[in-house]
Amino acid sequence: MLRLLFELPPSVISFHLGLPSLEMIAALKEKGWCVLATATTVGEARAVEAAGIDVVVAQGWEAGGHRGVFNAKLDAQIGLLSLVPQIVDAVSIPVIAAGGIADGRGIAAALALGASGVQLGTAFLSTKESGASDAAKSRVSTAKDTDTVVSRAFSGRPARLLRNRVVDALLPLDEEFLEFPRMLEVTRRLQSRNGSETSLDFEFLLFGQSAGMRSAGSAPELLNNLVHETTEAVRDIVAEWTPSPSNADAIPVMGAECASDEIAGDRRF
Ligand SMILES: Cc1cc2nc3c(=O)[nH]c(=O)nc-3n(C[C@H](O)[C@H](O)[C@H](O)COP(=O)(O)O)c2cc1C
Repeated sequence: MLRLLFELPPSVISFHLGLPSLEMIAALKEKGWCVLATATTVGEARAVEAAGIDVVVAQGWEAGGHRGVFNAKLDAQIGLLSLVPQIVDAVSIPVIAAGGIADGRGIAAALALGASGVQLGTAFLSTKESGASDAAKSRVSTAKDTDTVVSRAFSGRPARLLRNRVVDALLPLDEEFLEFPRMLEVTRRLQSRNGSETSLDFEFLLFGQSAGMRSAGSAPELLNNLVHETTEAVRDIVAEWTPSPSNADAIPVMGAECASDEIAGDRRF
């Protein structure tokens, strides 16, 4: 694996599901490459920093795909809103927020929590460039907030995926699955590859809780929209929270604009 990386030098290398050896990290850093690793708790983030990794990806419970937990049996299931500020306070390397972010409001929130950047997976699944089948692309954009679940059914390691017939049938058996990655051999045989509507009942589709927030388009369009939405979200918050010159010392009171005719229509404090 390390040899392959040296042959195809990427500019960024990201580790998931734990850390590689210190020797491998040193070899990658010697090449000048930027090395990232995922953490799902403050303890894992501290281990990432101690290993000499450049950037930590804080993955919240909302995220689609495999949970980045170091130990598959120990998942604290921490949501992004709690995880990011605690990791930001605990480490001195940059933190990238991942999980449940699908628009500019989510990006603005992650930046407000102290993240230096964001990582989006699910939001890109329905884009033109995504390798997902047409049926899966159409399913992701109609998914509801309650449509995903974390299970070991797909690979033997916990992953957030779409609930469907096969996942629901396997959920009660969670303790009995083969260890990662042997479970993949079993599930691969279950999956239909024809992309038809009914086959989605037997596909393991890695979606996060934000599935349904975005619909088709190209990846560059999505990126442009995300930048635009983030700018708008930040601008709206700043406008809302900037004291007007007449009452710069006023203490913000929730619902004040409803209680007072005087300031109704001017939502600034
Ligand atoms: C279909 C899919 C495949 C993924 N594959 C990987 C992967 O190979 N390596 C990795 O580090 N993270 C992978 N992830 C996780 C993302 O890096 C990221 O943590 C997650 O997508 C962020 O949450 P979101 O899906 O809510 O945006 C994958 C996510 C999805 C949805």
